[in-house]
Amino acid sequence: MASLTVRQLDERLKKLLRLRAARNGRSVEDEVRTILREAADQVGTEVLENFTPPSVHSAAPSRRGVPGDAKRVLLIIGGGIAAYKSLDLIRRLKERGFYVRCILTKAAAHFVTPLAAGAITGERVFTDLFDPAHEFDVGHIRLARETDVIVVAPATADLMAKVAGGHADDLATTVLLATTAKVLLAPAMNPRMWSNKATQRNLAQLITDGFALVGPNEGEMAETGESGTGRMAEPLEIAAVVEKLFGRGQSLSGKRVLVTSGPTHEPIDPVRYIANRSSGKQGHAIAAAAAAAGAQVALISGPVNLPDPPGVTTIHVESAHDMLAATERALPVDVAIFAAAVADWRVANAGEHKIKKSKGQATPNLALVENPDILSTIAHRKSQRPMLVIGFAAETENVAANAKVKLASKGCDWILANDVSPQTGIMGGNMNTIELVTAKGVESWPPQSKDDVAVMLISRIADALLKEKP
Ligand code: C5P
Repeated sequence: MASLTVRQLDERLKKLLRLRAARNGRSVEDEVRTILREAADQVGTEVLENFTPPSVHSAAPSRRGVPGDAKRVLLIIGGGIAAYKSLDLIRRLKERGFYVRCILTKAAAHFVTPLAAGAITGERVFTDLFDPAHEFDVGHIRLARETDVIVVAPATADLMAKVAGGHADDLATTVLLATTAKVLLAPAMNPRMWSNKATQRNLAQLITDGFALVGPNEGEMAETGESGTGRMAEPLEIAAVVEKLFGRGQSLSGKRVLVTSGPTHEPIDPVRYIANRSSGKQGHAIAAAAAAAGAQVALISGPVNLPDPPGVTTIHVESAHDMLAATERALPVDVAIFAAAVADWRVANAGEHKIKKSKGQATPNLALVENPDILSTIAHRKSQRPMLVIGFAAETENVAANAKVKLASKGCDWILANDVSPQTGIMGGNMNTIELVTAKGVESWPPQSKDDVAVMLISRIADALLKEKP
């Protein structure tokens, strides 16, 4: 607070104050205090009578500070271990052109700091319901109104219970009660908390009340040894749902996409075969992501232990020959992605009958012949060549350099190269680290789940088709 020294006032003012003080029987200091109090009271009454928060009464919610016509997302971060993923979610939403502001619940602040969330959003982070500065400047009603979508991630069991019950005892719940915007919940909690009757009852209420939901997913929990349903949906998954809420998610709508996936089995005889360790996880994830983006998808899958992705036409094959035939039958397509680990060789004369093992007989000699290269065959087609042909390159050394050579030799447009050395755990695992090799150069993607790689690839494909310059 500023201090005021009467001695420093001009002589005329001091004289007037002395006269006024004497008339009222007060000291000069007391007289000054009285004058200030009366003036402040009068100004205060006028301010309170005439001040109407513009956002509450104005016809259209203010877009102050929002770049262009960017859609506004208010992210409410709840207090759970998954909160760390919400920082990545902010990044993903901003990548998609959303204007993001954040509310952190008190519990969330134990997991992520307002400073971190503020640094990534580039905006002030809101935490308190009764913060006079915030109330004057933004206020919970404005926060609730000046947003197009609210995302609650992680939505904890407690937060879900409060919202289902209409509680409003902190900034997050007050905003959720005051908003008319669409709200997307990304629940995250221990599987037993998720399956608890109370949580399921609250969930049913929230769905009835029109809340949208993404996840929770199945998998490992942060607590050692715990797994089940309760993992928060991945940031890319949440961002994709937010895009859908704005009607933007169908980036491949009307496009035909073909994906090969999994290993091939090359028969030795009717019961034996040559195979490899491909799980098909990456190819299947790509097919699922393409379908989620609105594409019409044909998945040509070798033998895998995975369910057919929803919304995808899956054709099951065994050998490289069958895979090539099925691929050619699926043409024409706009985009073809060759994620299958096709066996390079097959047995020249696979036996029609089981090869018998008998004592004293020499071991069979398996003569191998080269399999057709499906990627190269499709990429070099004169007719019905897809607009965008994408291959994978599984390497164990000089990943990008070898992929560049492969890009040219296979005649494809893009190669997703990855290091499959045993220590990377990529073969059969859930994570992948990609280098995207195109005619323009090499782009290193961060280590991420195969699902995230799929979503990122589909987003790149959509961009390329939009520019029509694959
Ligand atoms: O030559 P290499 O097997 O490393 O090439 C990998 C890429 O080529 C992958 O996209 C794979 O699906 C594709 N490929 C194919 N047919 C083959 C061998 C590989 O489509 N016979």
